[in-house]
Amino acid sequence: MKPKVFITRELFGESVDRISQYYEVDVWDRYHQPPYEVLLRKAREADALVSLLTDRIDCNLLRNSPRLRMVAQYAVGFDNIDVDCATRLGVYVTNTPGVLTEATAELTWALILAVSRRIVESDVFVRWGEWYRSGTAWHPKMMLGFELMGKVLGVVGLGRIGRRVAEIGARGFGMKIIYYDVVRNYEAEKEIGAEFRELRELLREADVVTIHVPLTPQTRYLIDESALRLMKKTAILINTARGAVVDTGALVKALREGWIAGAGLDVFEEEPLSPNHPLTALKNLVLVPHIGSATYEARRAMADAVADNLIAFYEGRVPPNLVNRDVVNLRSPGFSK
Ligand code: GLV
Ligand code: GLV
Repeated sequence: MKPKVFITRELFGESVDRISQYYEVDVWDRYHQPPYEVLLRKAREADALVSLLTDRIDCNLLRNSPRLRMVAQYAVGFDNIDVDCATRLGVYVTNTPGVLTEATAELTWALILAVSRRIVESDVFVRWGEWYRSGTAWHPKMMLGFELMGKVLGVVGLGRIGRRVAEIGARGFGMKIIYYDVVRNYEAEKEIGAEFRELRELLREADVVTIHVPLTPQTRYLIDESALRLMKKTAILINTARGAVVDTGALVKALREGWIAGAGLDVFEEEPLSPNHPLTALKNLVLVPHIGSATYEARRAMADAVADNLIAFYEGRVPPNLVNRDVVNLRSPGFSK
């Protein structure tokens, strides 16, 4: 009998076909995520789960799923999963790193440019007739933004995505790159001239601050009120990582009171963001709905990576994107043991 996998949303078909050669597949085919109670019930009968970042895979669920051997996350971030608990229970956890690096780095640049050149504000200006009503085709002071060439890009978290954003900044826009991370990246320092800074120094110095750290207890509210107060009045903040890395209340204050010049956000503490949220009333801000990896290329490759991880585990191999390496000491990969 094939092991059972519950997939919490529709992925690209070819990958599901590949998975179903090894697993009995149960796909949640609705637009909305399965409620927690459904997730609990499905997980209890499953040998493996394919989860999204919106699925809460907590210790309660893991403990109540005696057959569960693997959680294959369809995302690079996995802060929705209690990984320590999974490790203790011998459950393998995988993610999809690498394949969405380009998509997320490119979206980061779309936000940097949209904020620095006021693209969304300008679009509204044209579309809603304000330009036409102004009766002026061109004015020396209309919609002024700022240039990136020669400015300082501050990268918070120089992993795969941060590294790629830095590279585009250095090679494409002639920016000076400074970065903060818990580990030094000597390769990036050599290749693109990135200079290490402590976080507080980076915040003081950067014209663009862009966040690329995972959400962990250590990075929650890393960018809080005191951090925002260190930034230049002319600087902008970009977040395509996780909403809770930034204290949203403090950010609203910073934007409203002009401590910083603007922001571009792809991620939020509460998703979906309510249209009544104070953020939506601010002008110096571009908001997009968590679409960092939303390209055809990335989403297909993510589904492929999920299939690769599931199939490797089935075949008794350590999955290529195993997150909790320690689990291998507790239980071998595969369903026979
Ligand atoms: C998306 O946010 C991801 O972590 O892949
Ligand atoms: C994601 O792939 C990262 O590690 O930055």
